[in-house]
Amino acid sequence: MRDISLQLLAWYDANAREMPWRVPPNARQNGTLPDPYAVWMSEVMLQQTTVAAVREYHNKFMALWPSVHDMAAADDADVMAAWAGLGYYARARNLLKCARAVVADHGGVFPADYAVLLTLPGIGPYTAAAIASIAFDLPETVVDGNVERVMARLFDIHDPLPKSKPVLTARAKQLTPDTRPGDYAQAVMDLGATICTPRNPSCGACPWQQPCAANAAGTAAELPKKTPK
Ligand code: ADE
Repeated sequence: MRDISLQLLAWYDANAREMPWRVPPNARQNGTLPDPYAVWMSEVMLQQTTVAAVREYHNKFMALWPSVHDMAAADDADVMAAWAGLGYYARARNLLKCARAVVADHGGVFPADYAVLLTLPGIGPYTAAAIASIAFDLPETVVDGNVERVMARLFDIHDPLPKSKPVLTARAKQLTPDTRPGDYAQAVMDLGATICTPRNPSCGACPWQQPCAANAAGTAAELPKKTPK
């Protein structure tokens, strides 16, 4: 299992997407980690919005409120106005609530601990794992729709979502390496977004083509299966 995680990291080293909140893999390997505040903001914005749309909003928010202290002290109405266009306004209210909790309860420092991150407003399992791994390089496993799709294909799992969630999560956890877990988390998401796409996956360009069970079975494009709503 470990070998295939390393294969993905090697692919990421050459193919990581550039994002304003991201520290590229070469810099991370020299010991530079991203600002947890910027990572948190990106993950809240990315919950229901595409990377392409988030770029501009993330830049704007970081310019208006460069630190968690600035966000905690912001006028609610200013934040809501700046959020206009992103939708799902509960996320903007949680942004304020969470910033204020980080300042009031954690001295303005994002906690480097999955369980403590989970106690913050608007931070669920996905966001807590994303911040822990990406911002602090802790070996937590990020599981979003991209990761579920990649795992369903890599292991040719035909059980439908949502029933298959626990199995897909367990597989994702097994593959998370202790070295560079933050780059690994971003690598699986990039793979899901650029190669292991929902339709017409680019299996010929995939770093996991050889170990992928769905590629061998010719079932990649039909996975993951979903129970009709
Ligand atoms: N989608 C949500 N979070 C992401 C991240 N950190 N990298 C790539 N895609 C993402």
